[in-house]
Amino acid sequence: MIRNVLIALVLFFQSGSFWNAVMAQQTGGFTARLEAALKAANIPGSLGTRIRNDPAFPGALAKILGGDLYLRILVDKTHPLPEDYEPEDLAVLAYKSYRAGIADTMMLREKAERALEEMAAAARADGIVLTVSSAYRSYSYQAGSFDRWTRRLGLAEAEKVSARPGKSQHQLGLVVDFGSITNEFAETRAGRWVKANAGRFGWSLSYPREYEALTGYSWESWHYRYVGKDLAAFIDTYFGGIQHYALVFLYEWERR
Ligand code: DAL
Ligand code: ZN
Repeated sequence: MIRNVLIALVLFFQSGSFWNAVMAQQTGGFTARLEAALKAANIPGSLGTRIRNDPAFPGALAKILGGDLYLRILVDKTHPLPEDYEPEDLAVLAYKSYRAGIADTMMLREKAERALEEMAAAARADGIVLTVSSAYRSYSYQAGSFDRWTRRLGLAEAEKVSARPGKSQHQLGLVVDFGSITNEFAETRAGRWVKANAGRFGWSLSYPREYEALTGYSWESWHYRYVGKDLAAFIDTYFGGIQHYALVFLYEWERR
């Protein structure tokens, strides 16, 4: 009797039906979590269709989730960083292939500085010198900056162009403002080059034109966040190049 039960159990575990049931449960869990995250992040239907139907998506997602948390962390008007958050590996900019746009001591996290240098060297090879006008900004620096914008433009306009302290991606040490910090940058050779090539080096435009309602900020053709090459490709492939969609999606995925 016991022997027969054991044999039946062995046969059951060896059969496809057991493993199919396990896989179906895992797939079901993935699908339910995906649907919930897509909905919570308000991902447009056209992007959702691609995400649901691409068999490479789960693998690409797993790769992103296995990377540096700070490359994907959501920092926006409703998701602040702690006041005392300061990256541990800030490095003073080396100005090898790029230049300082506004003279100041600027810093970035080491991996972002390396990626900036890599991109700037490629730009140089194409006859373009990139200038950096702002990089890491501490909580207190951002507080002063937001106050200056408020005095200059009034609170309502300042909110569209400057983040309140704790809510700026610059506090991550992963962001660069290029050139003039105006949208004239978009019309320059450097602006066009960065727009076309940033993703290859792991950089992503944070505040695109016509997405003010989504990001909460006016178009900033000069503000790029280093997200790494994998996440930059993930943003382009699955989120139409819109960084904010991808970061909100990842946030919603991880809290479920
Ligand atoms: N200008 C961007 C929104 C910032 O202040 O971080
Ligand atoms: Zn910026």
